[in-house]
Amino acid sequence: MTLPVIAIDGPAASGKGTLARRIAQVLGFAHLDTGRLYRAVGLAVLKRGEDPTDPAAAQRAVEALDLSLLEDPDLRSDTTGGAASKVAAIQTVRDALLDFQRNFAAHPPGGKGAVLDGRDIGTIICPDAAVKLFVTASPEIRAKRRFLELQAQGSTRTEEQVLTDIQTRDARDSGRAVAPLRQAGDATLLDTTHLDIETAVARALEIVRAGLGVT
Ligand code: CDP
Repeated sequence: MTLPVIAIDGPAASGKGTLARRIAQVLGFAHLDTGRLYRAVGLAVLKRGEDPTDPAAAQRAVEALDLSLLEDPDLRSDTTGGAASKVAAIQTVRDALLDFQRNFAAHPPGGKGAVLDGRDIGTIICPDAAVKLFVTASPEIRAKRRFLELQAQGSTRTEEQVLTDIQTRDARDSGRAVAPLRQAGDATLLDTTHLDIETAVARALEIVRAGLGVT
């Protein structure tokens, strides 16, 4: 039996991670934040003192990936986000992470269904997902959200710096040759610019339930 998969893609700090987590909780599905995999590879390269744009360095890091990095306090930092987006542009890194993601989608823990969030879930990882959401928000609002999140972690980056980081990462993620960030043709667009999180969750759940044919 094929279990339902919900694919959620979108740019940095669009709200996709929170939406994915909440949808998974409500439906009792397993959730995979695929960005954490790329962050772990980026962080591994940085910890070795190597360059995340170097395909050989990224390849070594993904081959010897230490999964305890997924719990590293630096995983969510902006520096790691930047490194993640650099290693994510390298085809061999994406190939190495593909099977793990597809396997999670096909055999999710709990056996009910899976929610995956990332950049290429609806386009490449799970093109046959039962429901696809593309979550966006204006760069300024996303920068504000990410700034508040980083500030709570003790970061001293200014909101302007965070906006620049986000714009650089958006350009790299959308402009890369391999698996660029783009909305799948059959994905529903959810713009969260003017929505608070509860309203965004309610809208996303309406779309998901309609897509799954459940009430
Ligand atoms: O949380 P945020 O949206 O800032 O980023 P993330 O989802 O943790 O992803 C970090 C970086 O990994 C992104 O900028 C992408 O370059 C890359 N990524 C990707 O290429 N494909 C995915 N499925 C997930 C993340």
